[in-house]
Amino acid sequence: KYKAIIFDLDGVICHTDQYHYQAWKALTERLHIPFDETINNRLRGVSRMQSLNIILEKSKKQYTALEKEAFAEGKNKIYRNLLAGMTPDDLSDEVRKTLKALKSKGLKLAIGSSSKNTPIILHQIGLGDFFDAVSDGNNITNSKPDPEVFLKASAMLKLAPQECLVVEDAVVGIEAASRGGFFSAAIGDAQTCKSATYVLHHFGDLLNI
Ligand code: G6P
Ligand code: MG
Repeated sequence: KYKAIIFDLDGVICHTDQYHYQAWKALTERLHIPFDETINNRLRGVSRMQSLNIILEKSKKQYTALEKEAFAEGKNKIYRNLLAGMTPDDLSDEVRKTLKALKSKGLKLAIGSSSKNTPIILHQIGLGDFFDAVSDGNNITNSKPDPEVFLKASAMLKLAPQECLVVEDAVVGIEAASRGGFFSAAIGDAQTCKSATYVLHHFGDLLNI
C-alpha cells in the first residue's frame, strides 16, 4: 500500500542517539547542569540549537548567543569524533537485511532527519548511496514536530505524504508525520505515542506491515 518509507536516522537506522547523549553529557558536566535520560529523550528529533536550549533550561546562568554557539560547536566536535569511529559494522544485520528486503519489494526508501551530520553518518555506515532521497538538517528551516523535513523527502520522491510511511523513534517525529499527513511507525522511545499508525517492537517488523 505504501510506495515509500521515510526513515529517521538517529535512533532508527543506527544508534548515534547514544553518541548525542555522550556529547551533551560532556558539555553538561563541564557547565554543572543536570542531564539525564528524560531530558535526553526530549532532544530526539530536535535541532542542535533547540537541543542546547532545552539543556540550558536547567542552568542557573544565562548565556549569550555567542557562548551558546560555542557550546553547540563544542558538542558537535565531540560528537563528530564519536562518528569518526563508526563503520558499516555499526549497522545491525537486522536493519541491513530489512532495508534490502524493502528495497527489493520495489519500495522507495528515503531519510528524513534533523541532523546536519546525516551525510557523514550515512557514509560511515556504508549507506552513502543507498537511499532514493535524503532530506536532512541541511535543507530545512524548521525541525520536528514541523513536518518540513518529511514533506521535502516526499517531494524529492515525487510522492504525496499519503503514499509514504515515516519511521521514527522521537515523539516529535511522530507528531511531524501526522501533521504532514503521513502514516507513521513508532520504534524505541516513541512506542508509547498514541498518534502513531503502527508500533514496531523490532525494525524487522516493517516487513509485516
Ligand atoms: C537528530 C537527533 C537530535 C539532534 C539532531 C541534530 O534529530 O535525534 O538529537 O539534535 O538530529 O543533529 P546534528 O547532527 O545536526 O547536531
Ligand atoms: Mg531519531
